[in-house]
Amino acid sequence: MTPQPKPGKVVYSAEQISTRVQELAADISSAYSEDDRLLILGLLKGSFIFMADLVREITLPHHVDFLVASSYGAGKQSSGDVRLLHDPESPLAGRAVIVVEDIVDSGTTLEGVLPRLRAREPASLDVCTLLHKRLTPLDPEPRWVGFDAPNDFLVGYGLDHAEDFRHLPYIASL
Ligand code: IMP
Ligand code: MG
Repeated sequence: MTPQPKPGKVVYSAEQISTRVQELAADISSAYSEDDRLLILGLLKGSFIFMADLVREITLPHHVDFLVASSYGAGKQSSGDVRLLHDPESPLAGRAVIVVEDIVDSGTTLEGVLPRLRAREPASLDVCTLLHKRLTPLDPEPRWVGFDAPNDFLVGYGLDHAEDFRHLPYIASL
């Protein structure tokens, strides 16, 4: 068996992440009203920890659902082919929808997922990503971004490398 890479330098500590998540939740809470029937849609699996922390800090009543898209397999490179393995069952029409991502890299995942959600006619569709590598301009850009991330391969706080390291409470580079 080839030796597994080990997480190196801590890029964002648990404390830094927690502070930023509270700020994002406050921004989101004041950007919508109850009439918007806010739906927060987590992109699995990478967003699961971010989602759990974020929704507990959002003071506006809202619903939570998940979708599963896959483009990476076990490697570090996107395969470019985005498959939707699980569609949200919640109604989207007429609601304010926020898609929650762990990290935006090439933008391929969002490019694959957003048109399919838009076709279900939400009143608004925005993206909240914890990390954004800003490698290419996106249309639209995520409305909420936790951190502009370095162009390293990052793991922890939900982010994996071949399913390892998701459980780390901080984010490190590999
Ligand atoms: P994109 O489609 O290239 O924007 O990649 C987005 C998805 O790839 C994210 O939801 C992650 O699951 C994964 N990904 C991209 N960069 C990283 C990284 O640095 N560490 C872990 N996963 C990553
Ligand atoms: Mg992922």
